[in-house]
Amino acid sequence: MKVTYYGQSSFHLEMNGKHLVFDPFISPNELAANINVDDIKANYILLSHGHGDHVADAEQIAKNNNASIISNFEIVSWFQGKGLNGHPMNHGGKWKFDFGTVKYVYATHSSVLPDGTNGGNPGGFVVWDSNTCFYFAGDTALTMDMKLIPLTCPKLDFAILPIGDNFTMGFDDAAIAAGFIECDTIIGCHYDTFGYIKIDHDAAKKAFAAKGKKLLLPAIGEAVEV
Ligand code: NI
Ligand code: MN
Repeated sequence: MKVTYYGQSSFHLEMNGKHLVFDPFISPNELAANINVDDIKANYILLSHGHGDHVADAEQIAKNNNASIISNFEIVSWFQGKGLNGHPMNHGGKWKFDFGTVKYVYATHSSVLPDGTNGGNPGGFVVWDSNTCFYFAGDTALTMDMKLIPLTCPKLDFAILPIGDNFTMGFDDAAIAAGFIECDTIIGCHYDTFGYIKIDHDAAKKAFAAKGKKLLLPAIGEAVEV
């Protein structure tokens, strides 16, 4: 599967002919100046929580593409109030969409929408079809609940984990998370965008390699095959 990085925690991938975009924060991100939001294709936009660095461009991309928002109940209700389509979920629930199954899983973080509206509980997504299964963690600390993922979902082919520290787990904890979720291929996110989350890329890769895991850090605009 080809996964394209748009900076911070934003990604695009295609599953069964549908375009999925995760946590779009592109136009406010100076590091992502090479990405044109209006060029992004989306059938679905998956939002892990309500913070601006995850939802900033969701409305524009949804309107450009008539895309549907997949998130928790509170976030989907907020976007429905803006006239967008959405599918509300909550922790532990899964739903079979036309591209595959999505399970909304636990994340230890906070969630408020940009105008101060309650953003419900933050989460992550496990997404799968008969060929591929992956985990998009959103913003989260390392949590024991990650051990539930291999117990309740198909075997993960790859996972997208935050590694920037300060607001989420750092790369040392994320390397432990890779063990908890029993996944060997990790794409890092939520690093370098702001001063608080600038990291040493080599040290991050070494922390994963020490546990027999591979950490991929694609450049913004770069696609990796996983
Ligand atoms: Ni956040
Ligand atoms: Mn964030």
